[in-house]
Amino acid sequence: MKKMLSIAFAWLSFNSLSAQNTSVQNIEPRLEALLAKMTLDEKIGQLNQVVGDISTGTEVRSDGLLAQIRAGKVGSVLSHTNFDNKTAIQQVAVRESRLGIPILFGFDVIHGYKTIFPIPLAQAATWNLAAIERAERIAAAEAAADGQHWTFSPMVDITHDPRWGRVMEGAGEDPWYGSLVAQARIRSFQGDDLSAVNTLAACAKHFAGYGFTEGGREYNTVDMSEQRLRQLVLPPFEAAVQAGCATFMNAFNTLNGVPASMNKHLVSDILRGEWGFRGLVVSDWNSFGETIIHGAAADDVDASAKCLSAGSDMDMAGGTFQRGLQKALAQGRVSEQQIDDAVRRVLRLKFALGLFDDPFRYLNPNRRAQTLEKPEYRQASREMAAESMVLLKNDGGLLPLDPKGPFRKIALIGPYVNSIGHKDYMSFWTLGLGNPQYDSTKVVTPAQALKPRLEEMGFEVTVTEVCLDANCDEKALSAALNAAREADLVIACLGERGIDCGESRCVSTLELPRGQERLLQVVSRNNKPTVMVLFNSRPLAFPWASENVPAILVAWQPGFEAGNALADVLTGSVNPSGKLTVTFPRNTGQIPLYYNHLNTGRPQANFGQMWTSGYLDVPNTPAYPFGYGLSYTTFGYSGLTLSKTAIGPGETLEVSVTVANTGKVTGQEVAQLYIRDPAADIARPVKELKGFEKIRLAPGERRTLTFKLSAKDLAYWNHEGRFKADSGQFRVFAGGNSVEVLEAEFELKE
Ligand code: BGC
Repeated sequence: MKKMLSIAFAWLSFNSLSAQNTSVQNIEPRLEALLAKMTLDEKIGQLNQVVGDISTGTEVRSDGLLAQIRAGKVGSVLSHTNFDNKTAIQQVAVRESRLGIPILFGFDVIHGYKTIFPIPLAQAATWNLAAIERAERIAAAEAAADGQHWTFSPMVDITHDPRWGRVMEGAGEDPWYGSLVAQARIRSFQGDDLSAVNTLAACAKHFAGYGFTEGGREYNTVDMSEQRLRQLVLPPFEAAVQAGCATFMNAFNTLNGVPASMNKHLVSDILRGEWGFRGLVVSDWNSFGETIIHGAAADDVDASAKCLSAGSDMDMAGGTFQRGLQKALAQGRVSEQQIDDAVRRVLRLKFALGLFDDPFRYLNPNRRAQTLEKPEYRQASREMAAESMVLLKNDGGLLPLDPKGPFRKIALIGPYVNSIGHKDYMSFWTLGLGNPQYDSTKVVTPAQALKPRLEEMGFEVTVTEVCLDANCDEKALSAALNAAREADLVIACLGERGIDCGESRCVSTLELPRGQERLLQVVSRNNKPTVMVLFNSRPLAFPWASENVPAILVAWQPGFEAGNALADVLTGSVNPSGKLTVTFPRNTGQIPLYYNHLNTGRPQANFGQMWTSGYLDVPNTPAYPFGYGLSYTTFGYSGLTLSKTAIGPGETLEVSVTVANTGKVTGQEVAQLYIRDPAADIARPVKELKGFEKIRLAPGERRTLTFKLSAKDLAYWNHEGRFKADSGQFRVFAGGNSVEVLEAEFELKE
């Protein structure tokens, strides 16, 4: 039994807004002077956020938006796209309401705004934080130029369940990496000045636990230990506070029985108390009102009292505070001081954004025209999409396509070879494009880009779109079969529709949807080598393809530049370097399957071993593990060396490993560092990511990388309710994914 070390880590508290180097000076006296003039109605109005011209929820649409604004009953408008209307709305707020308080416009800027980037999960697969920052800076510049002030992003929820449609919005299953991605996104949305015309206020969401909804079903129950919450769910949120994130959003779910919006433990104790967050907390869409439906509040008054008292501030889309807060005050359930504090947080954000100095600063039509959809933004999207693609299989070096190789005729087939509609290659979260039925005409499809590129290289290319609707199944299959028969090589573009990606897009099975496995099987009757390209928003399960298809590329939902990025990778002008940040299971029943699991008392060494923790019908191992991804070259790892065999609590250990490009072309590799505490005071994960570096190596080139570990990296939230590291032996692993690693040991001394 190890002894506990008293290494309590003082987590820094930040005032998120004062952490911003805002050019708006003297906010507090101006804010207090304004607050002193406000009636109770006007204060409650500032806590009310109403829906603009796009709805993603089930609210009852409120008529007379302008009349409400004129009456001082609205503090913020969300999901409004029309630029001219935004100007009109702001004019009414500023010129016709009694105190002229400007409206705060909030919007879901999730993977680009006008220029659509790969989905966030794909962005995370680049392991390139600089590229993620560049994407978010572009998204912020476009959104701010279009009159938005505030994005409801990043979603920093960790999840173990790819059935959950929102897995696409996060950074994957690892809390350490998720924290870095969260900070990168926040840094680039906000810049160092919220009042700059190319930045947005960020919002860390959904606080908290939403990624662990039972059965991966949207809006469902979450129940977890405090230890798991602290260790797995909260780190990216705390990292968000440390990065100066301006706002937080409640989650829809209950956490251990208490709806997150009225969860004092989460919002008051942890977020505001322990972490010192002083920014605004907004509800999720009617999540104050839904406390009643959860069965945890009696009515609007009760819900208002409970949510405000928990520390939440602004009511998104529900109108609960409008109906209930005044009465809650009259009944003594909340104090005017509590209301004032919430209003202060709203006003402080408006001041920091510079809205009191110039309410129209984000509504400049010239700047808008110059900023939106610049060609270089598309180029950035293309580069990121290519970098995010993950090569899962490449038997016999089938890829990249070589004009000097044995194949002349290529058949491009599948439902996603040239799809215009269903927001394909994107997601439901492309609201910034305006029209919810957006027809994807700005997307470059695989057929549009790949066909001419391959023809230029000397290949002959046919395109067979395969519709997979119930009506045309057999016809589609025979067209595909014929196309494959005529070809030397097949590229099958499969996956999911764009609109099946995002909120309320959960699935009960991960197997290739809409008969696509059958399509693959039929096509392969011709015995032509096949490349399976997946456009997907979540890990899918495709055991037949893994067994029978020689090359598999995960292209995710890549955004506007889908086809060009795919062509870059398939032709080898970009060597794939993406690696998974989520585990791909063999089948749906393996879920939850994640790399940083506990060992159990009976771990299974081999499939079929009885009396161990496993299944009769499938091994415990994933189809493709966390951190995995191939390249057109190969990399070798050697010489894992530690600077010391033991470190004290205040010391740093240096871990070195040499990575060599052992193949024939230049490539990029994501070298990863993991640790394990095999004999802690409570059971700890079999591996935990603690470092990575992405490097480019020419053929034959080798580089020694050095990672640093200190006691802080070894600490965990223990059964005494503290972050601590236990002294004793630790294992350290380095390699190109979470499974194939070199291993060494060291000791943490007391
Ligand atoms: C989602 C949030 C989103 C909000 C506003 C909700 O349904 O859960 O993530 O920010 O809608 O669109």
